Amino acid sequence: MPTMVKINGSPTQPSKTGILINAIGDAVAGKMAIKSETITLSEVAPEIMCGLTRPDVTKAGEQLLQLAERADLLVIGTPVYRAAYTGVLKHFFDLVDRDAMRNRKAIVCATGGSSMHALVIEHQLRPLMGFFAVQTVTTGLYGLSEDFADGAVASPSLKDRIERAASEAVEILTSSIVRRPQLVQ
Ligand SMILES: Cc1cc2nc3c(=O)[nH]c(=O)nc-3n(C[C@H](O)[C@H](O)[C@H](O)COP(=O)(O)O)c2cc1C
Repeated sequence: MPTMVKINGSPTQPSKTGILINAIGDAVAGKMAIKSETITLSEVAPEIMCGLTRPDVTKAGEQLLQLAERADLLVIGTPVYRAAYTGVLKHFFDLVDRDAMRNRKAIVCATGGSSMHALVIEHQLRPLMGFFAVQTVTTGLYGLSEDFADGAVASPSLKDRIERAASEAVEILTSSIVRRPQLVQ
């Protein structure tokens, strides 16, 4: 069974980013059989942040890095901090082997206090995945405070986008055939 690893780059809890990545994970799991794991960096940061290089992280930190490296599908979420992804998320990926995630798939998402920073998905998360040769789905997801209520995604448009991103992920996970439009003779 393929594996999905959700990574929440928020350093704090409760976390809107956590709500978003869980909603995405549920949407994917509703469309295909997939084993799901979550890396909540606010919980496990000491295992990772204790080392500036990979040999310096704890054994548990090493296992988390390997979990991410082996995922068929990554769901990567970050709050926007100072117009960027968080430092703890970047440090996690700084320790990931540069070739380990080649050709894997990812859904990228972020939450922020302002819509002004929604393009962090396009300008930061996608290039980061591009470095690792990870294919991201077309639909990126961004949530503002008003998109959440009672610990869940409340916005109908964000819910629609979650479904769309999940469908795109299932499509690229289950099919390696590039479909081209039929040429009209
Ligand atoms: C230190 C800090 C820096 C932030 N910087 C930004 C920012 O530059 N742009 C923005 O839109 N929101 C910013 N925010 C707001 C968070 O991105 C927003 O509240 C986010 O949804 C929090 O996610 P979380 O609940 O998963 O931690 C910042 C919040 C903090 C605590």
